[in-house]
Amino acid sequence: MKLVLLGPPGAGKGTQAVKIAEKYQIPHISTGDIFRANVKQGTPLGVKAKAYMDKGELVPDELVVALVEDRLGQPDCKDGFLLDGFPRTVFQAEKLDAYLKGRNDALTAVIDLRVDESELMDRMIGRRVCRVCGAPYHITNMPPKQEGVCDLCGGEVYQRADDTEETVKNRFAVYKEQTMPLVDYYERSGALMPVPGSGGPEKVFETIVADLSAKR
Ligand code: AP5
Ligand code: MG
Repeated sequence: MKLVLLGPPGAGKGTQAVKIAEKYQIPHISTGDIFRANVKQGTPLGVKAKAYMDKGELVPDELVVALVEDRLGQPDCKDGFLLDGFPRTVFQAEKLDAYLKGRNDALTAVIDLRVDESELMDRMIGRRVCRVCGAPYHITNMPPKQEGVCDLCGGEVYQRADDTEETVKNRFAVYKEQTMPLVDYYERSGALMPVPGSGGPEKVFETIVADLSAKR
C-alpha cells in the first residue's frame, strides 16, 4: 500500500491517516506534523517553516521534497507508506512520481477526501490536537474523554497556531490555487480515489477500506 491523502485543510486527512496506518501497518508520514515537531524543537528547518505556516502559506517546495525523499528512503517505507499533506503542488507530485519511478514503483491510490467548505471552517476552529502524538480531536464532534488530555497517550491537547479564522481562510485560498490542480493530475494518472469526507470519521474510514480493497 503506497498511499497519498489529498484534501483541503480540515478534510480529515490526519484523522483517517491514524486509522489507515494502523489497519495496513504502514508508516504515517505527515509533512505538517514533521514541520510542527521541528518548530517545537527550534531546528533551523522549524525556524524557516514557521514563517510560512503561521501565515497559512506553503513551505517552499525544495525544503519539503528533500525531507520527504529522505523519509521514504528509510527501511520502514519499503513495503508501503501513507503520505498525509504531501504532495501539495504539481512540482511536489512530479518529484514524487520521479522518485517512485526510479525504484520501479508507483502509488497504489490517492485518497481525495471531499468535504463542503461550509463544514470545513467549523472543523478547523473547533479542532484540538495532541502535542505529543498528534492525534486530532474536535471540541464538539470528537472531544477527548478528559478535557485537555489525549485519549491515546495522555499528552496535552492544544489548539494549533494556524487554526485561527484568518489563517484558515488563507489556507483554503492556497489549497485552491496550488493543491487543487493535483485532483486533475492524479485523475489523469488513474490513481485518484475520491471519497466523501462527511458523515463521521468511522463512516469515512469504512468507505476508504472498501474502495481500497476494490482497487487492489
Ligand atoms: P497540515 O498539517 O498538513 O494541514 P492541512 O493540510 O491544512 O490540513 P489539516 O491538518 O489542517 O487538516 P486534516 O485534513 O488533517 O484534518 P483533521 O483530520 O485534523 O499543514 C500545515 C502547514 O504545514 C501548511 O499550511 C504548510 O504551511 C505546511 N505544509 C505541510 N505540508 C506541506 C507541503 N507538502 N508543502 C508545503 N507546505 C506544507 O480534521 C480536522 C477536524 O475535523 C478535527 O477537529 C477532526 O476531529 C474533525 N473531523 C475529521 N473528520 C471528521 C468527520 N468525518 N466528521 C466530522 N469531523 C471530522
Ligand atoms: Mg492534518
